[in-house]
Amino acid sequence: MRIAIPLVSLGFLAVCGLYARSSAMSTPYVSAASPQDAGRYLVIVGGCNDCHTPGWDQSQGRLPESKWLLGSDVGFRGPWGTSYPANLRLFVAHTSEAKWLRLAHAGMGDPPMPWANLHALSTRDARAIYAFVKALGPAGVEAAAYVPPNREPTTPYIVFEPRQPARP
Ligand code: HEC
Repeated sequence: MRIAIPLVSLGFLAVCGLYARSSAMSTPYVSAASPQDAGRYLVIVGGCNDCHTPGWDQSQGRLPESKWLLGSDVGFRGPWGTSYPANLRLFVAHTSEAKWLRLAHAGMGDPPMPWANLHALSTRDARAIYAFVKALGPAGVEAAAYVPPNREPTTPYIVFEPRQPARP
């Protein structure tokens, strides 16, 4: 914490300390009834379903929760290679909360996963997402494995690269 200590009371410090992790600390989403409800809300507004839930956009967000976050076998192909949105239901099932928090706060991987956005989550909100996904339970199969740039994917993929418009 980098708040000037003389300016704040010890009580305030103790409360902050529960959630503090860096100077970029975010305010947690506090008004939901339970961590799971907060997690559901954060997954929706955080856009996690947009990539990690097949058919989410087509259903206009009306897929039942049993189909959420099962991962996708449609890759995103760009200069980094081809990456696949992970099955978060399986991931959470075999990942401890401590490891999840480390990943949420400092994890890096391939695009288009918005890693830097995840880093802005407060600890409390990252825990809420974990609780929600864990409660959904493990389901589905692992997404396809990452393919390096010089190899051809064997699955469908979306090309994620800027293209110049054709000149008239
Ligand atoms: C624009 C698409 C996109 C969005 C939106 C997105 N992800 Fe991802 N996510 C991916 C891709 C692609 C990967 C695989 C990245 C890699 O291989 O490094 C990934 C990987 C992950 C991983 C790592 C899993 C593992 O096996 O290591 C976690 C955790 C994760 N995403 C959580 C989230 C959460 C939580 C949200 C919502 C706040 C979210 N993602 C939103 C595309 C997305």
